[in-house]
Amino acid sequence: MSESGRVLGVLISGRGSNLQAILDAVATGSLNAQVGIVLSNVASAPGLERAKQAGVPTVVLSHNEFSSREEFDHRIIEILRHHKVDLVCLAGFMRLLSPVLLRAYPERILNIHPSLLPAFVGLHAQRQAVKYGAKVSGATVHLVDEDLDHGPILLQQAVPVQDDDDEETLSERILEQEHQLYPKAIGLVLDGKARVEGRRVVIRDGK
Ligand code: GRF
Repeated sequence: MSESGRVLGVLISGRGSNLQAILDAVATGSLNAQVGIVLSNVASAPGLERAKQAGVPTVVLSHNEFSSREEFDHRIIEILRHHKVDLVCLAGFMRLLSPVLLRAYPERILNIHPSLLPAFVGLHAQRQAVKYGAKVSGATVHLVDEDLDHGPILLQQAVPVQDDDDEETLSERILEQEHQLYPKAIGLVLDGKARVEGRRVVIRDGK
């Protein structure tokens, strides 16, 4: 853990636009934190370049090189600890975490999901919302637990689904909100303004 208590480890697998939103919020000072390490399980993830541009160290760790999820997570923990990470942010990280990693960072791992949970869990949440005929979808930042897209909810933002939306147009509209929501949620956690009470997260001073 760091002295400041404000070092982030961001885990990605792809594009990294949420990582970029975090990096931008740090750069402008709207998020008082430091990104200590960006870890990707995919070597070709475009988000790695975003980290490099921001001068943030990166690590590629392919899950295929490990014989179990637990071993993979043990190595992730070593890397996070080496970089004195206080808070882990999953940003399009396409792996489920094992209890090994969850126990190493209790209530200190966040995820962002492109729907209003518990609706539309899993892959292609925006496609699911369009297909279902939902009139409203959105974005959710939640604490991570052992189940997929399941842990206590920190913040949500609703986004209307328009009649002519397809997966792409809805994804774009939701993504704009994700980029606002994630840095905000991270700030609340780092500032100690989010208190977990069972499934509920009570936000003090939440805006
Ligand atoms: C986002 O839609 C996020 O909600 C989901 O995966 C996507 C990642 O996008 N978990 P990006 O890599 O941050 O651009």
